[in-house]
Amino acid sequence: MKRLLLAMVLTGAAASTGLLLAQTVTAPAAAAAPATPPALPPVSGEALAHTCAACHGTQGRLGDEAFMPLAGMPATQFVATMRDFRSGARPATLMGHVARGLNDDDLRAMAAYFERQSPAPGSAAALNPLRPGAPR
Ligand code: HEC
Repeated sequence: MKRLLLAMVLTGAAASTGLLLAQTVTAPAAAAAPATPPALPPVSGEALAHTCAACHGTQGRLGDEAFMPLAGMPATQFVATMRDFRSGARPATLMGHVARGLNDDDLRAMAAYFERQSPAPGSAAALNPLRPGAPR
């Protein structure tokens, strides 16, 4: 009986020592683990641009409908306009709400995408003098 008790005490001691060791070993590793999960890959400008299609046309391309076509808009003009909507510097009925949901990376990605789209021939957007390749 005494032997069994001794064995149990020893096993218990060994187990808790093992536990302590395990904690000592794992604790620094856990502390080094990143607090936030790794960042997701950025959403493409094309994917973001789909959310604008209902009003600004697929690929930002419209004829001369009421909404401004975005296709072919110079990237710098696009980013400046969207920042003005976001800050309220440019008054808007709804674009302020849209712009507040987008960060600068989103704007740059969309700007590059829209600039690559060719506007509908003959539309006001096609005649935008700021557009790269626009008729002068
Ligand atoms: C529900 C309709 C709607 C949606 C969706 C929408 N817009 Fe607009 N957009 C407008 C309206 C209306 C204006 C005119 C400004 C205002 O009153 O808000 C405008 C104006 C703009 C202008 C200024 C154009 C110019 O000629 O100066 C830009 C740039 C623009 N929108 C970009 C976007 C982008 C980018 C998205 C998608 C992320 C988007 N819009 C989604 C309705 C919309």
